[in-house]
Amino acid sequence: MHLNPKDVALNALAGFGPVRDLLRRARDRRRPVDYDRVVDYSLHRLEVRRSFIGDERIRGATLVEIGSGPEVCVALLLLAVGARRLVNIEIDPYRFISDPALYRRLVERARADGLDISWPPAGLLVDETAGVARPDPERISLYLGRSAASIPEPDASADVSFSVAVLEHVGRGVMRSVAEELFRVTKPGGVGYHRIDLVDHYYRREDPFRFLRMGPLEYRLMYSNRGSSSNRYRLDDFERIFRAAGFSEVGFDDVRMHEDDERYAQSLANFHAEFRGRDREMLRALECMLVIKR
Ligand SMILES: C[S@@+](CC[C@H](N)C(=O)[O-])C[C@H]1O[C@@H](n2cnc3c(N)ncnc32)[C@H](O)[C@@H]1O
Repeated sequence: MHLNPKDVALNALAGFGPVRDLLRRARDRRRPVDYDRVVDYSLHRLEVRRSFIGDERIRGATLVEIGSGPEVCVALLLLAVGARRLVNIEIDPYRFISDPALYRRLVERARADGLDISWPPAGLLVDETAGVARPDPERISLYLGRSAASIPEPDASADVSFSVAVLEHVGRGVMRSVAEELFRVTKPGGVGYHRIDLVDHYYRREDPFRFLRMGPLEYRLMYSNRGSSSNRYRLDDFERIFRAAGFSEVGFDDVRMHEDDERYAQSLANFHAEFRGRDREMLRALECMLVIKR
């Protein structure tokens, strides 16, 4: 693999924090938040989370979501299906959406879908006069601009941790701390479900393992600062890191494999030396659910 000048330039630009923040602010000004889209997506995200955690585990539980994104809609919906408390940790310094209109729409739509939720929903404090909503700290702790490498919650306080498409974005330098923090905040007997997207996010359909052809330096120069850059950890890396953090059980569910034998063999032949010598079947995974138990 050779350095592609366009990728190197885009990556260098993305690494310059103030430019990135400026571009983001300009984008946010141009595109006001579409509440209907947020609500639709939140209802979808709720169903995804219910499908892997299960309502029985959600009921009465303290749940920790890492990489939760900017708002608390999914947290409010999880409280409505029986969770006791939600902890959301998101590294991006997003601005919390305090407009009650968003949450009103969420409640209306969720009720129409049959959810037992009323206004104001549990977990949300609403000042109708000022027109401002905020999470109720008794039920939701929202940490924006905070890495899961340092979770401001007591030891053994969570029943379940979870994330969707987050662990592949955690920097290599901090993955160990994230695993250790998840271990620390999880109660003995508690579990974690972490869906991991293992493909090159820039070529997911046409060449899902393209990024495994690059050496560490090439990858760093072309992708390390960009929004969808990946740590390129494979299943065995995740297993090693989470076992070292102390989890007694570390396994994988719903592993989706590359199905085209011929194309996979071609990809494999061109993998960088760092990946080539490793278990061929393990490397074939496109997506998985990491399941950890303390
Ligand atoms: C691809 S997005 C997924 C967002 C959300 N989980 C969803 O399903 O829509 C990955 C998210 O993880 C966050 N993230 C990455 N590294 C993180 C870290 N160390 N701690 C907390 N959040 C992190 C990113 O800022 C981003 O919001």
